[in-house]
Amino acid sequence: MPNCDGCELPTSRQKSKDNEAETLCGACTELREGTPSVWVSPLESRELELVLAWRSHPEVYANFRQQDGPLTWDEHVSWFESRDTDRYDFIIHFDGRRVGAININQANEVGIFLGDFSAGGHGVATVTVEWLCQRFDYRAPLYAEVHDENQASKRLFKRCGFQQRDADSDWIEYVYDP
Ligand SMILES: CC(C)(COP(=O)(O)OP(=O)(O)OC[C@H]1O[C@@H](n2cnc3c(N)ncnc32)[C@H](O)[C@@H]1OP(=O)(O)O)[C@@H](O)C(=O)NCCC(=O)NCCS
Repeated sequence: MPNCDGCELPTSRQKSKDNEAETLCGACTELREGTPSVWVSPLESRELELVLAWRSHPEVYANFRQQDGPLTWDEHVSWFESRDTDRYDFIIHFDGRRVGAININQANEVGIFLGDFSAGGHGVATVTVEWLCQRFDYRAPLYAEVHDENQASKRLFKRCGFQQRDADSDWIEYVYDP
């Protein structure tokens, strides 16, 4: 079974679509045909500079539970090289440009951020989280941890079918279990 030309994961778990130009899994087929114009590709080492810059912006890392300052290059590279094999990171493309990243880790927690703020408010995160939920549905339940004050993210996960489960002080856990 070939790998998908989008997410580069095996198409075997999902209904795939083959045409002369490309082979896509079901989730990437829906993304390709949907609006807004969003695409995903696996994070590559040549994109680490871009992700470092995005993740070092205070308005981005303010929303991360496990990061409270800008990253250093060495810790960023060592994070990339030591990732668990069950973790997947993808770059989000919007209108043909790279605007952010989404991931699922070994504990089935979903993380997403836009580093290019000009892409915000267009539904980019919504279709990307929906894509990830479809692509990794065999790993459900999926989780997301969101700060109580992060209104955009709370709305995002609710809209994508996540249910609020536990609240640990300021952090809310959402679960997706279709
Ligand atoms: C959260 C984030 C990914 C949303 O991206 P986005 O592409 O702008 O989101 P969408 O356009 O798909 O909208 C998703 C929901 O968020 C709402 N939203 C978007 N921007 C918002 C804002 N600034 N304030 C309040 N709500 C907002 C939208 O209205 C929508 O909710 P609705 O469907 O109920 O109307 C983006 O704001 C971001 O990167 N934030 C910083 C990182 C972060 O918080 N990541 C989540 C931690 S896991």
